[in-house]
Amino acid sequence: MAEPIRLLVVCLGNICRSPMAEGVLRARIGASPLAGQVEVDSAGTGDWHVGQPPDRRAIAKAREHGVDIAGLRARQFGAADHHDFDWVLCADRSNLRDVRRVAPVEGARARSGLLLEWAALEGEDEIPDPYTGGAAQFEHVFQLLDAAADGIVARLRREYRR
Ligand code: 4NP
Repeated sequence: MAEPIRLLVVCLGNICRSPMAEGVLRARIGASPLAGQVEVDSAGTGDWHVGQPPDRRAIAKAREHGVDIAGLRARQFGAADHHDFDWVLCADRSNLRDVRRVAPVEGARARSGLLLEWAALEGEDEIPDPYTGGAAQFEHVFQLLDAAADGIVARLRREYRR
């Protein structure tokens, strides 16, 4: 059995975008030829919600689309994540800046980038923060993630020839 591919999705609070991404990616990877070969996790650059479940609007939106994220708990991104993961995919540019600011990057294993760019999704390259928005913003986030998921699976298969 080959080494698992380790993927971390990062946003600000780890209660809206990145747990939704974790759920969607886990489901889509599980239904792909990469099933059982990828570990998906999520984290936030901020610490306000550490230990909390995802925002109830994120849970409801994911559930509406058949994805259960109610059991996830928020954690903060840390320096060790640069070593523990292969890919750190961020929701927006400010998340990416914060991730790269967390030392030490020396000898880091993970490569970091924007999730939508990494998925080669046409159009938008940032997942907008829905926290102060409403149901439409959460639906928009879900649609972006749903559209990006195939690109992520395809990219991983190319990168690892699996
Ligand atoms: P997320 O959304 O980064 O998608 O989890 C946010 C959640 C909480 C806060 C900001 C964004 N906050 O400021 O508490």
